[in-house]
Amino acid sequence: MTHVLVVNGPNLGRLGTREPEKYGSTTHDELAALVMRWGVDMGLEAALRQSDSETDLVHWMHEAVDTGKHVVLNPAAFTHYSYALRDACALIPAAGLTLVEVHLTNPQSRESFRSASVISGVATGTIAGFGVDSYRLALQAVAERVG
Ligand code: DQA
Repeated sequence: MTHVLVVNGPNLGRLGTREPEKYGSTTHDELAALVMRWGVDMGLEAALRQSDSETDLVHWMHEAVDTGKHVVLNPAAFTHYSYALRDACALIPAAGLTLVEVHLTNPQSRESFRSASVISGVATGTIAGFGVDSYRLALQAVAERVG
């Protein structure tokens, strides 16, 4: 069984009520259920976690490497400045695992500070701008690469 760790960064726990005109009305719990169901449909074991803490995210990248899990990561605001998370993310493709960076919105079409991603350069690929469907497309990318 292929395992995929789906990780959401800061403020994404407030999905559903956080700026719904940008991030949509799906709650984090609903997204967790969707991720699990999409995973089952694609033959993946996928589980969603969220933390506002950079430390947790770094440790979860280490855990993914140590346990051989592919990663779908929405780094949220850490996308734009966390070199610590970037360095942890770099370990994933180096271990032969897939790392998909996802965003609900298209950061390129928003404020200028969002156009830089320090994560993209070490990710296998990036999917952005499709709302919660970005996560389904990211899982599909993992499934097709491992299949
Ligand atoms: C986001 C985009 C980031 O710029 C922002 O800080 C987020 C969410 C997205 O999914 O569109 O928290 O990663």
